[in-house]
Amino acid sequence: MANELYIAPSILSADFTRLAEEVALVEAAGADFVHVDVMDGHFVPNLTIGPPVVRALKRIATRPLDVHLMVSDPDRTAQWYVEAGADVVTVHVEAATHLHRTVQAIRDGGVSPGVTLNPATPASAIAEIVPYVDLILVMSVNPGFGGQAFIESSVAKIAEIRRMCSERGVCPRIEVDGGIDPSTAPRVVAAGADTLVAGNAIFGHDDPASALAELRRSAQARMV
Ligand code: DX5
Ligand code: ZN
Repeated sequence: MANELYIAPSILSADFTRLAEEVALVEAAGADFVHVDVMDGHFVPNLTIGPPVVRALKRIATRPLDVHLMVSDPDRTAQWYVEAGADVVTVHVEAATHLHRTVQAIRDGGVSPGVTLNPATPASAIAEIVPYVDLILVMSVNPGFGGQAFIESSVAKIAEIRRMCSERGVCPRIEVDGGIDPSTAPRVVAAGADTLVAGNAIFGHDDPASALAELRRSAQARMV
């Protein structure tokens, strides 16, 4: 029997003037998480939202908030998002100087820790932290913007990370973020991903609810 497939719509592509309605729409359509992209204009060349918006989302969301920190100083600021009501806080391996300490602090705050890596960062960079996280987020675009093209080498990296986890006897969720749509989703789940982030493919669609359902259908059959 296949494992469960989770869909995490990225609100980066939602209409920010109607955030509560957009979140409610994808939740009603079966979203498993609400993916929140925090960008600081320094680690990535874009600036999005911070703790006040996460706090507001927490008041209206019925699904867990999956907060992806694209910031230069997560060792210092991850705690802001723990306190703001995130359910998952994911930190870039390239940005954290004391990744293990930060991951532990997130968990001590009662929140699920995740680690993420950029397209040019090898899977080996996360080898030591794998047993300590609940989630590994594989970036399949260079972080910073929605609507970019999927980077093909991500498929092999997902498979490598899935093997790495099996060898260590751990089973964190493996999430993939960037350029996910019904054509790329089947390949990433076949490689071992179980959580799909999608921004443009859902919120860029005329009918986000049917886009979400279509994404799930495209991937479900290929779950490993
Ligand atoms: C990119 C963000 C993504 C982004 C994905 O830096 O981390 O979550 O919203 O958008 P799409 O699905 O449009 O590639
Ligand atoms: Zn993201």
